[in-house]
Amino acid sequence: MPITTILAADLLRQGEVVAFPTETVYGLGADATNASAVAKIFAAKGRPSFNPLICHVAAYDQLADLVRTDSRAEALAKAFWPGALTLVLPRQPGCLVAETVSAGLPNLAIRLPAHPIAHDILARLGRPVAAPSANRSGHVSPTNAQHVRDSLGTAIPVVDGGPCPVGLESTVIGLTGARALLLRPGGIAAEAIEALLGEKLGQPQDARIESPGMLLKHYAPSRPLRLDAVAPQEHDGVGKEGLLSFGPAPAGFAAYYPLSEAGDLAEAAAKLYAGLHALDRADLDGIAVMPIPDHGLGRAILDRLRRAARGR
Ligand code: TXA
Ligand code: MG
Repeated sequence: MPITTILAADLLRQGEVVAFPTETVYGLGADATNASAVAKIFAAKGRPSFNPLICHVAAYDQLADLVRTDSRAEALAKAFWPGALTLVLPRQPGCLVAETVSAGLPNLAIRLPAHPIAHDILARLGRPVAAPSANRSGHVSPTNAQHVRDSLGTAIPVVDGGPCPVGLESTVIGLTGARALLLRPGGIAAEAIEALLGEKLGQPQDARIESPGMLLKHYAPSRPLRLDAVAPQEHDGVGKEGLLSFGPAPAGFAAYYPLSEAGDLAEAAAKLYAGLHALDRADLDGIAVMPIPDHGLGRAILDRLRRAARGR
């Protein structure tokens, strides 16, 4: 059911869940201060309760009541918000966000999205909105309203804002210790964050605690995925593959979805999930992906593809 931002904010205020576009992917939102509304997100997605959710806000000054900020958080927010960056910070004592949003951790992940529809809903509601990607847990994230309906069914109200311009989830940075950690590569290149902070980002030592979501099967289409493909597979018994191409595409595949003919990583990121959705077809036996460079947004694209290849 397509709805307006006014109705979306009303439904959220009443404790319902609503899907809406952000610049990264579509989110499935609920009032983060309402524990029973938040429970509906976990139920609709089939999401394990140990995997915490990102809290979305309309303005930086909302953070004061929610988390303890520091100079790194301020600098990153100033440089990259609104945008595809999530900051994990210690919860403030008396923080009204439901404990289930943090999955029992003493931290809260916060993002100030740039998409005008997301911003409008958040500003109208005036409360933080917990929102994971609007897909069944473990599946490919939605970058248009039809992907949301295909994954979660037509009963979920969706604000349709067309395709998401970034197309990859936000970069998640952990700021709860002395060293800033890259918890998830995403829509803002890690190199840009390192340049701003003037230090290398650390990797989580214990991902079970630092970023529980990263341990799960994720971003998986239902057909097998083959990475670094430069040609169709030769030997017998290999079925028909569709190719996600990057740069000029080799001949001989059964279907094609160009991520970027010019070899542009931002374009490829924006089209990645639409490509995975498009080639996850009954008449194909697998999806092959051409080599993607391992820097900038390429790092986030490869992170998603490797998880998708492993997680099926
Ligand atoms: O771009 C995005 O980030 C999208 C849009 C809707 O904002 N949201 C999104 O949410 O990708 P989700 O739930 O699919 O992924 C959130 C990630 C998970 O890996 C989760 O484990 C991590 O952020 N996370 C959330 N809260 C955390 C916390 N308190 N500590 C550590 N990691 C956290
Ligand atoms: Mg997700």
